[in-house]
Amino acid sequence: MLKNKTVVLGITGGIAAYKAVDIASKLTQAGANVRVVMTKSALEFITPLTFESITGNTVVTDMFQPNAEHRINHVALSEVADVIVIAPATANIIAKLACGIADDMLTCTVLATRAPVIVSPSMHTNMYENSITQENIAKLKKRGFKMIEPQAGRLASGGYGVGRLPDTETIIGAIRQTLGKNGDLKGKKVVVTAGGTQEAIDPVRYLGNRSSGKMGYAVAEAARDRGAEVTLITAPTALVAPAGIELIKVQSAKEMKNAVAKASAKADALIMAAAVADYTPKAAAKQKIKKGAGGLTLDLVKTPDIISEVKGKFLKIGFAAETENLLANAKKKLTGKGMDMIVANDVSAEGSGFGTDTNKVTILLKNGRQESLPLMSKREVAEKILDKMGKMMEGKM
Ligand code: C5P
Repeated sequence: MLKNKTVVLGITGGIAAYKAVDIASKLTQAGANVRVVMTKSALEFITPLTFESITGNTVVTDMFQPNAEHRINHVALSEVADVIVIAPATANIIAKLACGIADDMLTCTVLATRAPVIVSPSMHTNMYENSITQENIAKLKKRGFKMIEPQAGRLASGGYGVGRLPDTETIIGAIRQTLGKNGDLKGKKVVVTAGGTQEAIDPVRYLGNRSSGKMGYAVAEAARDRGAEVTLITAPTALVAPAGIELIKVQSAKEMKNAVAKASAKADALIMAAAVADYTPKAAAKQKIKKGAGGLTLDLVKTPDIISEVKGKFLKIGFAAETENLLANAKKKLTGKGMDMIVANDVSAEGSGFGTDTNKVTILLKNGRQESLPLMSKREVAEKILDKMGKMMEGKM
């Protein structure tokens, strides 16, 4: 996805400029050719040497550097860019771009490009909320720029408010989504569930499971990066909300069922990667249950089986996390729950299952075919699932 793609990373003069080092580093690690362009004010915060060391490319700072490569760079970079990302973007650069000003290398590059441009505003809350900045942002959005919402939190000035540069993952997620927007799942609506549901016992306790949500998030991100419109229905996890994905947070199996029913009404596929509780307390206690002398017995009832009960014409893809008789159990679930595909994984095997970044799975299809995959990253497993899903959507499987 990012491999061999040229990402022009524009850095402007905000305190968050130091965070651009991490963005440049992660993009380079993912195989992108990162070309950094810094404004004059960005040079007051951080040196080009840092970015040159990380990206292995010279950093462009000046339109009039007496060097042939640099002299043509405002056109050269605008032409070689697969995507341009400005992070952090100050109120000043946003205003200049909105007016079509081209008085330095970054503004010239943006004005000259046909590549998609992503802008990640980062500034003091008052500057961000100022109606002039908001008008400029609206103007850029109308012209097709992709704006990343700044986050709320502690600002460099000491106060709290909106204006922080989001996490590197969020910015790179937006880049991946932009690069993949014409992918093989373009126009498809995909609903993904993730995480382990929590069934309330009382106001402070719940019944849960060991699901980390990593597999479901990987599927959601992979689908986004292939052009799909993704809704991720997630039980509580420790993961960062992925950029460019509609996130619906739920806790219990019942809440997940309602969210799935609503979201899948217009979906092309439902991928249930969530570990849904099979049982839930008959009634959650209103007050915290006090410790008594004896034991405690919970009265549990069955939860609704979401994938079996949800109605619609979309493809149904489920997971079977097993500790024994993997394939036999998976086959039973595939037919019993009316699925089109099931991804079976032995959660007791090393490097496979809950909490890990890797997984070893067998994919079984409704038509009886099955494929056992070697141990691979959850992202790679996600791509394999989507390969098969894409073929099924085209009626080729
Ligand atoms: O828990 P089990 O192994 O039966 O789950 C298999 C598949 O069924 C998974 O895709 C899971 O998300 C889904 N499931 C569900 N509703 C439940 C339990 C599981 O949709 N109540």
